[in-house]
Amino acid sequence: MTKAYELHPHVFLSDWNNPNIALVKGKGMYQWDVNGNEYIDSCSGAVNVSLGYGREDIAEVIRKQAVELSYLTRFTSVPPILDECSQVLADFTGMDRFFMTSGGSEANEMAFRIAKAYWVGKGKPTKNKIMSRWLSYHGNTYLTACAGGNLARKNDLSAYAIDEGHINAPTCYHCPYHKTCDTCNFECANELEDALINKGPNNYAAFLMEPIGGTTTAAITPPVGYFKRIREICDKYDLLLISDEVLAGYGRAGKPLAIEWGEVQPDIVGIAKCMSGGYFPAGAVGVNKKVSDTFKEIGHYYAGFTWAGNPIACAVTIENTKIMQRENMLENVNKQGDYIQEQLKAMRDRHPIIGDVRGRGLLIGVEFVKDHATHTCLPNEEMALAKVMQAGYKNGVILEAASGKMNKGLEGEAIILAPYFGITRAETDILLERLDKIFTDAEKQIKF
Ligand SMILES: Cc1ncc(COP(=O)(O)O)c(C=O)c1O
Repeated sequence: MTKAYELHPHVFLSDWNNPNIALVKGKGMYQWDVNGNEYIDSCSGAVNVSLGYGREDIAEVIRKQAVELSYLTRFTSVPPILDECSQVLADFTGMDRFFMTSGGSEANEMAFRIAKAYWVGKGKPTKNKIMSRWLSYHGNTYLTACAGGNLARKNDLSAYAIDEGHINAPTCYHCPYHKTCDTCNFECANELEDALINKGPNNYAAFLMEPIGGTTTAAITPPVGYFKRIREICDKYDLLLISDEVLAGYGRAGKPLAIEWGEVQPDIVGIAKCMSGGYFPAGAVGVNKKVSDTFKEIGHYYAGFTWAGNPIACAVTIENTKIMQRENMLENVNKQGDYIQEQLKAMRDRHPIIGDVRGRGLLIGVEFVKDHATHTCLPNEEMALAKVMQAGYKNGVILEAASGKMNKGLEGEAIILAPYFGITRAETDILLERLDKIFTDAEKQIKF
C-alpha cells in the first residue's frame, strides 16, 4: 500500500513487491487492515503503545492542547506545562531533572553529551568515552548507533564507526563463561573492570546499558546482583551509569525504571516509548541530583531541538502517567506478565521451538531453539523467525522479531511479547491460544 512513496525502514532488506500489511484501525490490543482482517498487536506497535489503541481520553487531551497552545520554543519562554511534565517524570522515576526530546535516540544522544560535559565541568575533560555492551541497541542517530552492539543494525557503519568499547551482554541462556545462575560470579559484569583497566578509566565518562534487553536480545534479564556489580565498578572508576530505559522503562518491565529490579540508582536515564503511551512522539533524558548540581555549577550548556518539550507531548505524557496510576497499570503489567511467562514455560513441554522464556513485566522474550537440553540454536538457514512471523499473520497476531542473534551475535532468533498495559486475563488467554497455534504451525515447517 505505502510502497510507492515511503522509504521503508528495512528498505535494504524488504521485498518491495510484498509490502507489509496495511493497518488502518486499532482498538485496545487489536488492529485491523484495509481488508477488515483482525490482528492482535502483541508488541504494542514498536513496544510503545502501552495504553492500547483508540483511547478517547488521550485524543481529547491532544485536541485541547492543540487548540490552547500547540507549540512554543523553550529558547524564548519557560512554559509551565514543560515544568509540570518534568515534575511528573521526576516523581514517577525518582530522577532529579529532565530534558525533553522527541524520542529515544535523541534522549540517549543527549545522555552521552551530558555525561561528557559533566566531566568537563569536573575538570576531567579526558573522560569523554562511553563504554557499552555487545548486542545492544541505543538508537539510530550516528553516535547512538556507534554505541550499539548489534552488528546487523550497524553494518553500514563498519568502515567508519566510532567504537569507544563494548563488553559482553548478560546473555545467561548462552553464558559466554558456561556458568549457571547458581555458579555465576557476574563474570560479564567484571569485564567492565577489565576493559577499564585495559583502556584507562581516565578516558571514560560513562557506562551505558539496557537494564533489560530490547528487540536485539529479546529481553535478556540479568540476575539482580549484576546491576550492583556494575554500579560498584562505575563508582570505583568514576564512571557515570547511563540506563537506557527507552524500551524497558516507564512501566514496560513492571517498574517505573527497569533498573529498579537491580536495586541500584543510575546517574542518567534515557526514556521514551511508553512515556507517552504511544500517542505522541516524546522522549526525555533524566539526571540525578549529582549530575544536575554539576550542571548548575557549569552554568550555560547549549542543548535543544525544535520539537523538544512540545506542549502536546507534555500534555500527553502527563495524562498517560495519570492514567497509568489511576488504572493501577503497573500492578496489571506484573500480574499479566508473570502469567504469560508461566503459561509459555508450560507450553515449552509440547513445543520444541520454545527455548528460553525471560523478561519482566510485559517485556517478555521467547527464544527459539533446536534443542532444549543444549540450548543449541536453530541454524540461520532454517529461517525459523520468518516462519513464526508468517504463522503469526496467518493466525491473526502481529509479532515483534528480535533479530540480534543472541549467541555471540552469530545465531539465535526470538520474538518479544509486549502487549498493552491494560491487557485483561481474558485477552491474555486469547493471545496465548493463538501463540500455541502459531508455534504448532511454524514447527511443522522446521527440521529439529
Ligand atoms: C533500548 C532502545 N534505545 C533507544 C531506542 C531508540 O529510540 P527511538 O526509536 O525513539 O529513537 C530504542 C528503539 O527501539 C530502543 O529500543
